[in-house]
Amino acid sequence: MNAVIGPFQPHPPQGRPPYVIAHRGISGKAPENTLASFARALDTPGIDMIELDVRLSKEGEVIVLHDRSLQRTTTGNGLARRYGLEELKRLDAGSWFDPRYRTERIPTLAEVFDLVQKRYWVNVELKYDAGTRHPEGMLERKVLDVINTCGYRDHVLCSSFSGSVRSRLRQLDGAIKIGVIYNIYRDFGRLPSALAAPSGAVVFVCAKYELSKRVVRDARAHGIAVYVYTLNSIHDARRMMDLGIAGLMSDNADDLVPDLAGRPLPA
Ligand code: G3P
Ligand code: MG
Repeated sequence: MNAVIGPFQPHPPQGRPPYVIAHRGISGKAPENTLASFARALDTPGIDMIELDVRLSKEGEVIVLHDRSLQRTTTGNGLARRYGLEELKRLDAGSWFDPRYRTERIPTLAEVFDLVQKRYWVNVELKYDAGTRHPEGMLERKVLDVINTCGYRDHVLCSSFSGSVRSRLRQLDGAIKIGVIYNIYRDFGRLPSALAAPSGAVVFVCAKYELSKRVVRDARAHGIAVYVYTLNSIHDARRMMDLGIAGLMSDNADDLVPDLAGRPLPA
């Protein structure tokens, strides 16, 4: 079993390879955002962080689910926010991937923290739910409540595509580590430093095709760490490493670990 790690640091130490981040767990080999997928990441020494997506159930429980609707990854139908946790827990969140995962359920954020036991950092991506009837700021408040109750405040990175979600997080917590996720439609042409400033974000996350030397230069000049998704081939991962990226998000993070171990960061 891996040891408990120290507080989250946005940049790896000098000379160390980029962080390896399990995107929705080991979601290439187990159903995304389930305990099975996170447990698989925990079985792989060398992974640094688990990324997951959160939203609210009807009564405001923080659940781990990527899509607004239940269709793609569960046996349910319709918007997740219309169902209470008890109803959501009856759904099978694994068979869509492989029948042997039929006992997987939509986890709560607290259940994931309980599983991880601070062996890895957790990147909590807050999904903005357009059209929700939950009061403004409820998602951010509930997520911070779970993080604090579980004692995870120093072990998380909270990220979002939404600038308003990031700003509300900052208003509620002056010190929590925040990540910007670049939204090519809304943020086109804006640099990491400009996007990070309103919430004091320390990490900039973008898709591999959104990365440019200009972005890397600006982030570096402002001390912002750049993480890139979704790097599912060694070739992509190596290319990003050569650009000086601080974090690699992959659906098959377990496959990247042996290849990246020991590779120094470019100067
Ligand atoms: O945080 C990076 C990535 O997870 C954002 O996109 O759709 O995979 O949640 P998505
Ligand atoms: Mg995500």
